[in-house]
Amino acid sequence: MTDKNEMIEETLSANRYVHAFLVENGEYEKSPHFRPENRAKVRGIIEALIPRLPACHKLLDFGCGTGFILSLSNDLFDELVGVDITDEMMEKVDLSSGNITLLNCQAEATPFEDSTFDMATAYSFMDHLSDYRKLLSEAYRVLKPGGIFYTDLNPNRDFIVAMENANSNLSSGNPSSLLSREISGALNNGNHYEEKFGLDASTLLKAEPGKTLAKGFDASEVKAFAQSLGFSHVELEYEWYIDQGRWVNSKPEGHAEVIDEYLLTLLPLTSSLYKYIRFVMIK
Ligand SMILES: C[S@@+](CC[C@H](N)C(=O)[O-])C[C@H]1O[C@@H](n2cnc3c(N)ncnc32)[C@H](O)[C@@H]1O
Repeated sequence: MTDKNEMIEETLSANRYVHAFLVENGEYEKSPHFRPENRAKVRGIIEALIPRLPACHKLLDFGCGTGFILSLSNDLFDELVGVDITDEMMEKVDLSSGNITLLNCQAEATPFEDSTFDMATAYSFMDHLSDYRKLLSEAYRVLKPGGIFYTDLNPNRDFIVAMENANSNLSSGNPSSLLSREISGALNNGNHYEEKFGLDASTLLKAEPGKTLAKGFDASEVKAFAQSLGFSHVELEYEWYIDQGRWVNSKPEGHAEVIDEYLLTLLPLTSSLYKYIRFVMIK
């Protein structure tokens, strides 16, 4: 096996191990993206895309896991298909709506015909791949002309690099507990799971090469690659600024949105304060 193939295999098996471990320990569903406010936000994003789709027949969710996207959108499409490589995750998908089918296969090489789906999605997923460009190619291939690829919760390289810089300057100052927590979340997430659950930290690092090796996604690079594949229109948004969770839950309500609007008006200067990037790509 070549080094590259070895790395791909290592990433796949680290993903199966980590996700089976998290879901079997009841930890996966505690991920912040399952919180009601985020579910409502993602549901709103998908609903807003519906009028822009060629039709609402078929949705494909890449790396569907326990069905976060499938359960948020099963009333919006005639048929939904989820693909994933970890059976333990897919066993948790709620199939009661009767229009969801699941397939254990790699997202980068699905068995579907060209131009099959109206919409394709990838939530909290692209950073788990050894090469996200293969996923974009696959999404482009299986979408109908005019179909939309929506991918979200992609770690933002500007943020990770800013956290690295802050970390290397820590000795010169006394960081707030907020900054220490954010640095540790961005750079040492594996340690948290190792200490708390005994999950091997190095395996977790291998399961997220898009975050740990590539240090997240460069918005312009992803956009340029999508355009080179033929996507006619690519939109991107930065989301979840540092410490936003605290403001979302603070009273009176509304602070989180005001801060967000302010920071967004200062882009690109403030891009390094946002943890994730969302993309909407139209074929
Ligand atoms: C962080 S989870 C996200 C699951 C779901 N999208 C969500 O938002 O909760 C990443 C999922 O990707 C799956 N996965 C990792 N690499 C994959 C690949 N190459 N093809 C398909 N699924 C993959 C894992 O098994 C896991 O279920």
